[in-house]
Amino acid sequence: MKVKAAVAVAPNKIEVLAVDLDEPRAGECLIEVCASGICHTDDLALSGDLAEVTFPVILGHEGAGVVRKVGAGVTAVEPGDHVILLHKHACGGCAFCLDGRTNLCLFGREQKKRGLMPDGTTRFSIAGKPVYHYMGISTFSSHTVVAEAAVARIRKDVPLHRVCCIGCAVATGLGAVLRAANVKSGASVAVFGLGGVGLNVVQGARLAGAGTIIGLDTNRDRQAMARRLGVTDFIAVSGDGRDVLESVYRIAKDGVDHSFECIGCTSVMRLALESCHFAWGRCTIVGLARKGQELSFPPDMLDGRCLRGTTFGEMHGRKDIPTIVDWYADGRLQIDPLITHELPIDDIGRGFELMRRGECLRCVIRH
Ligand code: CU
Ligand code: ZN
Repeated sequence: MKVKAAVAVAPNKIEVLAVDLDEPRAGECLIEVCASGICHTDDLALSGDLAEVTFPVILGHEGAGVVRKVGAGVTAVEPGDHVILLHKHACGGCAFCLDGRTNLCLFGREQKKRGLMPDGTTRFSIAGKPVYHYMGISTFSSHTVVAEAAVARIRKDVPLHRVCCIGCAVATGLGAVLRAANVKSGASVAVFGLGGVGLNVVQGARLAGAGTIIGLDTNRDRQAMARRLGVTDFIAVSGDGRDVLESVYRIAKDGVDHSFECIGCTSVMRLALESCHFAWGRCTIVGLARKGQELSFPPDMLDGRCLRGTTFGEMHGRKDIPTIVDWYADGRLQIDPLITHELPIDDIGRGFELMRRGECLRCVIRH
């Protein structure tokens, strides 16, 4: 079938084109994508500065839609089901899924890194030439074909153009706090970077019952929304890191219990590490760094502190995403105010611009 997709034809060049999409094969599903959020990681991928991107590629990894067709052997969903797509697959049957200590799934993992479906081919093409997949889901397309391991079925009474953001920003932010860091009630928290993911770290901290929630950003316009979602102390960052640390220590003597880096900048990662308590602080890196970047700090900074990374907030998509959708439906979780813009796919370039200039929180593409 012909679908309408935003194709990154080369680094920093995106074009909305008619693309051929093959039928789903065994173990795969055809999804009509209803809405897809634009995430900073898409911009990083578009710039060519991210490992694991093959051009031409259809980006997008935060989407929700409706199952339209399933291939042989698919049992998790059927046509008509509403789904959130999982850029972190969750097959449920591989050694890692069965182990339970990680949310990294082995199913189709190597092929996914190369922009391919699990069988090593692409479903997208233009004039017979392959167009590559991104994170196994390629949501900047009116329709996409994904592995069964990439779908989480959700209830049908929530708007897909809102809950699509659970697919990356919301789940990653909440999970970083509730799973990876396991923040306890009364804890002090510092969140570096108040974008789509950072604001959801804030929401997670509020849900965990954190006492002090410090939000840091260079953009002062983020303060109002950050406070609305749970930030108790806002620090507008300017100048060098020393001021930042002094400001954090002034609020939380000797540092915070938990810090989160939500930007993907190695100098901020180091600041986040240093901002947490020297004897028991835990620093969690949520942001994704450009390829080739390295993080450095004196080893004694870890005498009492603990540094860890996380991907997709340790969430097991198939199991956890329906629960997060329930929290949204029950009003425990706010998503609507985070979505500041909605654009048709023809205007996707403008969506990327708004994000780069920090003028939107989440911009959602509606198909
Ligand atoms: Cu993302
Ligand atoms: Zn698996």
